[in-house]
Amino acid sequence: MNIVLGVSGGIAAYKAVMVARLLAEEGHDVHIVPTEDALHFVGKPTWEAISRHPVTTSVHENVAEVRHVALGQQADLVIVAPATANTLAKMATGIADNLLGTTLLATQAPVLVAPAMHTQMWLHPATQANMATLRSRGVQVIGPDKGRLTGADSGPGRMSEPAEIVQRAIELLAAREAHGDLAGVRIVVSAGGTREPIDPVRYIGNRSSGRQGGALAQAAAARGATVTVLAANVEDAVLAEIADLPAVDIEQVGTAADLQEAVQRHADSADVIVMAAAVADYRVESVHDTKLRKEEASGPVLSLELVENPDILRGLVAARRPGQIIVGFAAETASDEDALLELGRSKLARKGVDLLAVNAVGWTQGFESTENTLYVLAAGGELVATASGTKREAADGLLDAIAGLPGRQKL
Ligand code: CTP
Repeated sequence: MNIVLGVSGGIAAYKAVMVARLLAEEGHDVHIVPTEDALHFVGKPTWEAISRHPVTTSVHENVAEVRHVALGQQADLVIVAPATANTLAKMATGIADNLLGTTLLATQAPVLVAPAMHTQMWLHPATQANMATLRSRGVQVIGPDKGRLTGADSGPGRMSEPAEIVQRAIELLAAREAHGDLAGVRIVVSAGGTREPIDPVRYIGNRSSGRQGGALAQAAAARGATVTVLAANVEDAVLAEIADLPAVDIEQVGTAADLQEAVQRHADSADVIVMAAAVADYRVESVHDTKLRKEEASGPVLSLELVENPDILRGLVAARRPGQIIVGFAAETASDEDALLELGRSKLARKGVDLLAVNAVGWTQGFESTENTLYVLAAGGELVATASGTKREAADGLLDAIAGLPGRQKL
């Protein structure tokens, strides 16, 4: 495979030599594109010897080959390791004042970045905002690890180990090779349940574990999609199952308002949005700054004033761009299947989604279980699939229905 390794100017550049070497040993053709700054740390002869290709930093060299776009166009994968705060900022804004910048703009290949910088620089809101932008565009991120940095300090900011970067690169290439039926499709999945604070220690929440949303993320990634999971208080065990998947990015959210902000931010770049999260319909109007105490209450009854949350799903449907698929979930308590589907159909009509996955819940049904049955209703109200089994099997059934929607050339 053809891999471009971008190297920006940080001390971790010396570790990138090992990344290049390991990739070459795996039989890949590695083109190295350092920034000018990177050459202060490791010189051109090293990069040329390791990659067996000429190494340039500027768009003004090898102009006849149109190298500034050719490298990116021909790449199967672009890695930036180390990715400094400056290079990440340039990537986020699309600045292309060197060969690495033009390569990154010209490529259609997956991009993997391995940030490396001092802890304060990593935690700075500017860097974090840039990372959020890059993630929302599907850029894969590995690290940074916590540990010893240059000098005496330590904390998050250390570049991931070369072997881990190479491992992730190989997984990304394998996913690209596998070409599942959702290859290249960008899916946003909300999972879990929102929590609306009452005071600093209490909240109004629900029993959703995030298992079904997690299973959807896993299944979609296995079928080639790039997945962003907006995780609302998802159980740790569920997060652990998806945390290391190269095609899955996780963003944690707390309240309905957080989820709305996050999903709207990701909506533009999503081909499919699946709202599997249980969203609180109401929030406490005025959240107490300090813990509510019994002695401050007016008597044996406590009243909380609740106000309605925005309907996120309806907002997404209203702002939907052509070709975008929006899928809702409905967890309902119903006496039998007919009643369940009836509730589902009326919700479908209210929400205006392309598909609604309806499942039955109750005191002893739905939430903690590893099994599920999803009745999938299409926009006209017809039952197009009954996906049941493990939550992963149910997820695949729903994805089959999504992939089978008529007129979706891209899926
Ligand atoms: N949903 C949403 N925003 C809300 C509430 C729900 O986006 N404020 C989404 C959920 O993620 C789910 C779908 O809408 O995909 C249905 O959620 P549900 O709570 O069943 O719908 P409600 O409109 O709240 O209906 P109900 O009256 O049954 O509570």
